[in-house]
Formats: sequence, C-alpha cells, structure tokens
Amino acid sequence: MNATNKLIFIAIETSCDETSVSVLEASDAGFKVLSNEVSSQVNLHARWGGVVPNLAAREHAKNITTVFELSLQNAGIKIKDIDLIAVTEGPGLIPALMVGTTFAKTLAYLLEKPLIGIHHIEGHIYANLISAKKQEAGDKKNAFMSHVARHMFPALCLVVSGGHTQLIYMKDHLQYEIIGQTLDDAAGEAFDKVARILNIGYPGGPIISAYAEKFRKKIEFENPDWKIDSKFKNQNSKLSIYFPRPMMNKKGFNFSFSGLKTAVLYETKKHPELVKDKKYIAAVCHEFQQAVTDVLVLKTIKAAEKYAPKTIMLAGGVSANKKLREQLGKAIKEFIPNTIYQIPDISLTGDNAAMTAAAAAVRWQKMSDLQKKRALHGWKTLQPDANLKLK
Ligand code: KG4
Ligand code: ZN
Repeated sequence: MNATNKLIFIAIETSCDETSVSVLEASDAGFKVLSNEVSSQVNLHARWGGVVPNLAAREHAKNITTVFELSLQNAGIKIKDIDLIAVTEGPGLIPALMVGTTFAKTLAYLLEKPLIGIHHIEGHIYANLISAKKQEAGDKKNAFMSHVARHMFPALCLVVSGGHTQLIYMKDHLQYEIIGQTLDDAAGEAFDKVARILNIGYPGGPIISAYAEKFRKKIEFENPDWKIDSKFKNQNSKLSIYFPRPMMNKKGFNFSFSGLKTAVLYETKKHPELVKDKKYIAAVCHEFQQAVTDVLVLKTIKAAEKYAPKTIMLAGGVSANKKLREQLGKAIKEFIPNTIYQIPDISLTGDNAAMTAAAAAVRWQKMSDLQKKRALHGWKTLQPDANLKLK
C-alpha cells in the first residue's frame, strides 16, 4: 500500500469480443471500481453469426489504447498512479488474448509494476463481489462487498457463458473444484446456435430471452387462466412444442446441450411453413429457454444438497438471463432456504475488466511476499493460454 494506504489496479480484458479496461481502488475500507470501460465488437461479428478470432484481435488492437485512456480519465487518475496491472491470460481466443496480454506486459515493464494474470472464469465469479448498490445515476464507484466476501464460503458457483458451463465448488477464496461441466456445448453456445437455426441474430442469448418473454406475456394476456406449457396455437391447428431436458435424470453434475440444439433443429424441420412466423419462433424460444433453465437449476440444487454451500453464485454471460436468475432464486428459497443467493449486477454479467480487477485484488491480498516479488517480473513470464485451467 502507498502513503494513503490505497492501491490502484488497472485491469485489461480482451479474451473474446469486448475490449475492456477497468480501474479499481483497493484500500483498508474495501474495493471500489473507479471505471469500467467496455468497447463491444458485437455488431462487427453479428454478420458472421459468431466471433471471428482474427477480426476480434484487429479490433482489440485498434481500440485498446483509447479504451485504456478513457478508463484512466473516467477514474480520474494518471498513468503514474497505477500500482498494479492485471490481465486476463486465458482461456479465450489466442489472437484476442495476445493483444491484451502484450499491452499489459508492456505497461508493467514500463511502469515497473507487478503484473497479475487472471483466469477469465475467475473474473466472472468475482464479478459477484462487486456491489452495484452504490450505482446511482452518475456514480460509477462500486464498493467491493468485503463483508459478504468474508462469510460466503463454502460457495457453489454455476458458471454459464459462451465457452463454459460448470458447477464449481469453492471452499474458500481462489479455491476451485469443478464438480460438473458440459460434455459438449456450453449453455451460451447453445443459445447462440439455436438463434442461428431460427435465423434471429447474434448473440443468441438476449434475443431468445426477449422472444421467450414476449411469448410468456402474450399467453398471460390472452389466456390468463392458461398455465404456460409452451403450447403454440396456430390458427387452425394445435401444435405442441416440447424439448428434452438433457442429463436431468442422470447422476452427477455434468451437462449436455448439443442434443437440445438438435431437437430444436428437428422441430423447425418438421414445420418449414412456420419458420418465419414470429409467434412460432417465440414459442420455440420459450420452450428452449425453459429446458436449459430447468436443467441448470435442478443440477445446481442437487449439487447444493450434496455439498451444502453457504452461498450459491451465478456467473458468466448467461447469468444475465432473467428467467434463470428468477427460477434459481425461487428454487433456492423453496428447497435450501438458508443458502445465500448471490448474482452479479446485470451490467457485470458480460465480459468486462472490473471483474478481472476484483479477482486480481483478492489474489494480491492472498499472495505471499515471494509471490508478490515474482509478480514484478510478470512482464517476462506471463503468456496467454487459450486453454488455461482454473487452479
Ligand atoms: O461470458 P460471456 O460474455 O462470454 C464468454 O466468456 O463466453 O458470455 C457470452 C454468452 C453468449 O453465448 C450469449 O448468447 C450469452 O452469454 N448471453 C445470454 C444472455 N446474455 C448473454 N444467454 C442467455 N440469456 C441472456 N440474457
Ligand atoms: Zn466471459
């Protein structure tokens, strides 16, 4: 800590299609996010229906200095105020990771400051500990919930993103045991692929979720007594859509979503005359989202019954899904009511560098003197790793 007992972290995240830089202040009072700039490339990749790695890298390289400058400006700090540098070192797209890690290594070398590499999923998990409570209009400063952080373990974390679907047991800070994961597609990937089948755009998650919500509202409005069971009524015919809940009745905590995606494909092939019908698309989206949610929630509750965590956390891009947030909350209340339910602020569910900074601040607190010394040479040793394992 410097003279005022404060440390300024700068974090960089470029693992996929968001260029993000964040400034976080750590002090005895806790952590505060001073800025969190995110430049999204979503529109660029949308026309390809997914992220193109080399295009992503080119955009990161183009934007990173501007995003960095903006982040310093909005935090009200100068480059000389930086005490530590954190960067996502993996997993992710290697050309994209190389831009962020090279930028961070250069900065660490020039400023002669420690460099801390962060696992992308660790970042998503630690987004849970940035409180949005102080996020009133114009107030970008978030207090890190150190009081919660002290009493939340053991915790069970459901990580759902474009590249990962995992149930992770955390005995304490920074200790990860993967107790279940997808055997094929990740949940977010399934959302994206189903949106491609339905030809409704990219990224699929928010679009499918919006269609599903429209379907639910319409049913409620037109048939207030009709329990939603995903039935879509075409003018003359009665059509029922039902998708499987893969792995639901299997032992253990693994997932599988590729069969569900295939079930959506078969369903649309059965009804080629309806593929452009917005009501039909909404019904398919509703049932698909429900199937994914049912599996995720049931497996999480079953894992919680076995591992008895104090806290259940949700993390990753899919944690923005309203249905999932609500249904998991309800299930916890009903089946394991003494468990704390922690979800990230909606603004921190997607990729952003504030989550990387929060994880780095916790890592720094827990590091030995030797590890801290070694971090000073991080610019020499840190290498991006597309398949980095969570340790
Ligand atoms: O964590 P993230 O931003 O990037 C990765 O680390 O992969 O997650 C992106 C994924 C995409 O697959 C996207 O479709 C999904 O998160 N997603 C959603 C929602 N918002 C984003 N999935 C379901 N519902 C949403 N509201
Ligand atoms: Zn992510």
